[in-house]
Amino acid sequence: MKNPVAFLLVFYLLLSSCTGVKKDEPYVIAFSQCMMDDVWRQAMLLEMNIEASNYDNIRIVIADAKESNETQIKQIQQFIDQKVDVLIISPNQSDSITPIAVEAYRKGIPTIIVDRKIGSEEYTTYVGGDSYEIGRIAGEYAGAFLPENATIAEVWGTKLSSPAQERHLGFINGLKKKNVNIKTVVGNWRREIAKKEVSQLEDFNDIDLVYAHNDVMALGAREAISERDSALVSKIIFLGVDAAFGKGAGLEAVANGLLNASFLYPTGGDQVIRVAMKILNKEQTDKKYILNTAVVEKNTARTLLLQSDQLINYQNRIEQQKRNIDMLFQKFSMLRHSLFLILSLLALLLFFAIYIFYINRKINKKNKQLHIKNKESEEQKQKLICLNEKIEQVTSQKLQFFTNVSHEVRTPLTLIVGPLEKWIKSTPESPLLSDLKLMKKNADRLMRVINQLLDFRKIENNKMGLTISQVDIVAFTENVMSLFEDLAKSKEICYEFVSEIPTCQIWIDQDKMEKVLTNLLSNAFKFTAVGGKISVQIKDGPEKIYIALQDNGIGIDEKDIEKIFDRFYTGSVPSGVGAGIGLHLTQEFVKMHQGQILVESVPNDYTIFTIELLKGKDHLPDCFPLVHPEDRVDLASTSMNVEKPDDLLAKKYNYTILIVEDDPDIQTYIQSEFAPNFSTLKAGNGAEALAILQSENVSLVLSDVLMPEMNGFELCRRIKSDADLSYIPVVLLTALTDDSQRIYGVSEGADDYIQKPFNIDFLKIKIIRLLEERKRLQKRFMQTMQAGGIPIIETEAKIESLDELFMRKFADLLDVSYENTELNVEKISEELGISRVQLYRKVKEISGLSPVDYLRNYRLSKATTLLNQKRYSVSEVAYRTGFSSPAYFAKCFKSVFNMTPTEYVSQE
Ligand code: FRU
Repeated sequence: MKNPVAFLLVFYLLLSSCTGVKKDEPYVIAFSQCMMDDVWRQAMLLEMNIEASNYDNIRIVIADAKESNETQIKQIQQFIDQKVDVLIISPNQSDSITPIAVEAYRKGIPTIIVDRKIGSEEYTTYVGGDSYEIGRIAGEYAGAFLPENATIAEVWGTKLSSPAQERHLGFINGLKKKNVNIKTVVGNWRREIAKKEVSQLEDFNDIDLVYAHNDVMALGAREAISERDSALVSKIIFLGVDAAFGKGAGLEAVANGLLNASFLYPTGGDQVIRVAMKILNKEQTDKKYILNTAVVEKNTARTLLLQSDQLINYQNRIEQQKRNIDMLFQKFSMLRHSLFLILSLLALLLFFAIYIFYINRKINKKNKQLHIKNKESEEQKQKLICLNEKIEQVTSQKLQFFTNVSHEVRTPLTLIVGPLEKWIKSTPESPLLSDLKLMKKNADRLMRVINQLLDFRKIENNKMGLTISQVDIVAFTENVMSLFEDLAKSKEICYEFVSEIPTCQIWIDQDKMEKVLTNLLSNAFKFTAVGGKISVQIKDGPEKIYIALQDNGIGIDEKDIEKIFDRFYTGSVPSGVGAGIGLHLTQEFVKMHQGQILVESVPNDYTIFTIELLKGKDHLPDCFPLVHPEDRVDLASTSMNVEKPDDLLAKKYNYTILIVEDDPDIQTYIQSEFAPNFSTLKAGNGAEALAILQSENVSLVLSDVLMPEMNGFELCRRIKSDADLSYIPVVLLTALTDDSQRIYGVSEGADDYIQKPFNIDFLKIKIIRLLEERKRLQKRFMQTMQAGGIPIIETEAKIESLDELFMRKFADLLDVSYENTELNVEKISEELGISRVQLYRKVKEISGLSPVDYLRNYRLSKATTLLNQKRYSVSEVAYRTGFSSPAYFAKCFKSVFNMTPTEYVSQE
């Protein structure tokens, strides 16, 4: 069914031909009349119509020549051209019309000559009355009335027409040579002309009889005579021809006595149609149909007139019925059309039903095929998924192995880098020192690559988080830059730092941003030749800070520019990180800050990397932990208004650090490094550490996480949930770098979490700061307490209203429950409806203390109040303030106030 429209068209044609929508074309019967406006020809037309109403397949077309030969010739010519089916001619004048009538006949058009004749036999048939016979009977009729030497006025029809000539000849012969005097008048078949011509006669008195070739001319003559002498008309005999019915025609005139007699000249209207039908039906016809004549006098005329009236009446009825039939036919035809339309619509409907059925079947078939294909592809997909899963599993196993190996490598690297640093510090300038520096440089490089690989893994696994803190980006950048000062000197590079602004605080993950800057700087140094130039510029925008690093090194090819941030892309020259992930990581880190990094370069001219960082912290996701500036210890940062790192490391502290580590090398290394600053204790795992904690006075626990028997998390949890030990700060130390692990560690109550490999000085400073800060806070706390203040230690950070609200709730809870020895961090977080991690974060952020320390200090503050009242013994005070035992109370009291409760009371 490629073309339904074509199908419909064919269908429509077929249907229309079957139902016979189109009526058969009727035969055209053309009638060339010499004249029309007289009663005889009206009667002729009526007779024709009556006869024609018997047939429904003919159409009569009439042309009136109005007595003009030229007009009649033209009209006949047109009928010939139209190739009419039958041509009827009533010639005006025989000689003039003969040639065109013959031409029609010769051209194959059946030609019927009526009434008047032509001068040829070349026509199909002739229908008409016998004018000679009529004249003859009229002559005989007149002869019977007329006396000898009578005068006759003969009124002629058109002289050149056959009936006029024949009627004259017949009349003369009918008079049978009777001695008569004939006055000739030519009336041209017309009443008026006849009247006029007759009226021009000099004298009417001698006229005995008027013989006119037709009735109307006889009446015209009568009128003319009557007008001159009305008495005369009763004396004269008036004879006419035609005896036609109709108003003012001969029949009526005879019946009324205006004419004495008329001689019937039948119009032959009915006969002509019958003959035409015979011709059309290919029936045999006669050459001539001569119509009869008769004398019509008064009585006959009356009868005939009645009959003609009836005929007219019949005709009227027939016409009415014809009209009715036509109307019915129209209705029928409308119904037929409607039926056809309905049938067409039905057929169309049927066609569409079939078409839809066909299409539906096709669609169903296709659907089935699709279904099968879908099933197949689904199966294939499943197979692929399985395969993918397997591949992913294998890949992840491999990557896990790779990650584990990286971690494994980092620990020994720590043990290489640490001692190397120490040796470099203590070795004087010598070839050995150069070698040591070279070793250190390469160990650092190895460390950097491993760190980058691990970072890359974390980003790939979406495990990379941000630890956001507020930093002065100008000082921060300058600090990172300072790490490359030696390199700049040794490569004689002009190394510049320009900042539009002296300072600008923004929120960043310092660690990651340090990596970003380090990576870009080390690339710049790598690709800038000796004596080149590297500059870093900080620009201040309304919403952003721009850090632009420019070098005049080898530059980057235009075609490479788009790809330099792609993973594993190394370009045509070796990249600064070897594995081709340095710039990728750089971009990822910047993106994590919702910033962007742009690059512009002209090979062998310059390269500019521009980092765009947003100001404020609204753009940073809430889920990233925000670190209070004081809570962060960083070698590179100068944001802390405290002692310089070197000064801190030069001191010996009265702290005992318990090192919990299963790797004996690391244990020994840390211990030897810690020895100049702290007292140290060692444990191989969590269980051993717990045992030591029972007997020793430990200031801080530094513990590895992954250890046999009892891991670091478990140890931390045990310490923090033991009322006697919970005040001891715990710092977890591990190679695991997932933030989730870190959060887990913190949720177990760890006070800090340091990643391996660590810089030993960084670790020491972190521990020193943590313990010193505690001491400072406790001192302030004690002062606040002694001054009767509320036990919230306000930090420099602005406490926002929500935090205030939280702290109020937290303090209220402590106020009603501190006496309960069962109250611990878990219970508090449960009561406040937040997680332990959140509780820790909030309390720490706002007060600077962990929830455990806060609770313990709160209890101590209540205890001091009770002690001051001197109403209760020390033991009673211990129990009343929720301490589990007087001994533990004493221990805590001493750690905060540096004296026992008893000493405190007695001091009071
Ligand atoms: C009508 C008429 C008749 C006459 C006939 C002769 O036009 O004049 O009265 O009989 O024509 O052709």
